[in-house]
Amino acid sequence: AAVPAGTAAPAGQAVTAAPVSKEVTVLFGSQTGNSQSLAKKTAKKLEDLGFQVTVSSMSDFKPNTLKKVQNLLIVVSTHGEGDPPDNALAFYEFLHSKRAPKLEELRFSVLALGDTSYEFFCQTGKDFDKRLEELGGKQLTARVDCDVDFDEAAAEWMDKVAAALSEAGSGAGSASTAAVSSAVAQSEASDYSRSNPFHAEVLENLNLNGRGSARETRHLEISLEGSNLQYEPGDSLGIYPQNHPRLVKELIEAMGWNGDDTVRVKDGDTSLSDALQRHVEITVLTKPLLEQVVKLTGNRDLQQLLGAGNEQELRAYIQGRDLLDLVQDYALKGVPASEFVGILRKLPARLYSIASSPKAFPEEVHVTVRAVRYESQGRQRYGVCSTYLAERVEPGNSLPVFVQHNPNFKLPQNPDAPIIMIGPGTGVAPFRAFLGEREEIGASGKSWLFYGDQHFSTDFLYQVEWQRWLKDGVLSRMDVAFSRDTEQKVYVQHRMLERSRELYQWLEDGAYVYICGDEKQMAHDVHAALATIIEQEGGKTPEQAAQYLNELQQQSRYQRDVY
Ligand code: 2AM
Repeated sequence: AAVPAGTAAPAGQAVTAAPVSKEVTVLFGSQTGNSQSLAKKTAKKLEDLGFQVTVSSMSDFKPNTLKKVQNLLIVVSTHGEGDPPDNALAFYEFLHSKRAPKLEELRFSVLALGDTSYEFFCQTGKDFDKRLEELGGKQLTARVDCDVDFDEAAAEWMDKVAAALSEAGSGAGSASTAAVSSAVAQSEASDYSRSNPFHAEVLENLNLNGRGSARETRHLEISLEGSNLQYEPGDSLGIYPQNHPRLVKELIEAMGWNGDDTVRVKDGDTSLSDALQRHVEITVLTKPLLEQVVKLTGNRDLQQLLGAGNEQELRAYIQGRDLLDLVQDYALKGVPASEFVGILRKLPARLYSIASSPKAFPEEVHVTVRAVRYESQGRQRYGVCSTYLAERVEPGNSLPVFVQHNPNFKLPQNPDAPIIMIGPGTGVAPFRAFLGEREEIGASGKSWLFYGDQHFSTDFLYQVEWQRWLKDGVLSRMDVAFSRDTEQKVYVQHRMLERSRELYQWLEDGAYVYICGDEKQMAHDVHAALATIIEQEGGKTPEQAAQYLNELQQQSRYQRDVY
């Protein structure tokens, strides 16, 4: 353990004292790429401070090397009902199994990403934190749980971790700390990002559904000219939406406020109507928000709802209700606007899988957005971003956007590799980008698309393009499932099962499988169908089939972009 750290350090790095604790492992579990980019940022920061950092996806990390790790940083997000991201699953299960080693030498810290509007907020991060402590690890700094708008909290965690590691006798001085801050700031300033979105011109905004459809799906073409924003197929576009003006108006009336009053938001002072329309979230109720309302108003009824034993009622109440419901149901009229606005979350950006290849459409980005409208508690509700785009954005308008890279949803490096794409509904969007890209680079790999929606005649998104690609050989096969054209519903997974022999052969020939779209039902059912196909056609037990899919995932041959 007495090997000087300098011998292993990358060229050009300052060699200082050589305590063993200068080695840091940063592991990330990431679905959309946020945890991954934060892990890399953390690594960069620590490297600049003279640490030797290994940063890796949990899925690439050899769990049996964990015993040798002294400083471990975990950056992980949570999905759905408290689930780990796909690339965290195997490591998560290993740590929670009997095979997990004692980790008495370990010092660790967890950065958890999540969303307070979900009941199991940051659950995966909490689980890692608890489990590492159970195994004997010592917390280097306290876990930080981030809400949707994670930048600040994450930066604070990084600072604390860096300070704790430095204090722990690494010898890294305060001079290098200063150097780091400026280096990080410089690399951020060069590009538009989530915290500094580009105001992009909308070029086109069309409804892809035919007359009489129950759906409204918008195809937006957006100019990235002058932004220097780069993306690849599989990446997402972040869009900052605006709340529905009608909801804003009703809220102001219900509270007896004046929309012209000045209030303070993060970016400075603005009018109350502007704050409610563009800056804060008014359509989602979260437990932390309700707690803040109680603090602000002392409302007894609301306090009771938050009390012990009422978890069930709280969950039922929050579901499908917005701020207007809250202020009406709990008679909050009269609470000063400035204080109320102060406790609301910043309106978060929405991410949409990009539907274009930058090679096919230079300086442009396309997205496919289904307008979400439904009724709840006797009132019409509007999906914030989707109905903003559908109803209130026209060509010529500008939209605040940024690119969210998603390294977990990428075409194979090898253009000859076969790909199987499963994307019903708007889930088909990234596959338009995939095929556009493969056409442009003249890829020769086979490709197979499974697509579905309600009706052939009105809901076949991008039909002409698929047909052209089929004719030109860019797309080798396409199977469609229109669920409401026949008496019996057919879904994409039924089509997959009908073609199970060929599909298994494609897998055996090295095909990459991509699923995009609804997570809860579709992605789950498609996964089950894949398992069935592997069992049936490969003569495998359910355990072997699960193992087969695990291995595909390990080899990045099973990738999901689900929401
Ligand atoms: P449905 O609306 O008729 O139930 C895109 O949204 C398509 O996905 C629709 O045809 C929808 O059918 C279908 N769909 C709904 N649930 C699904 C599931 N569990 N698996 C696959 N497709 C599903």
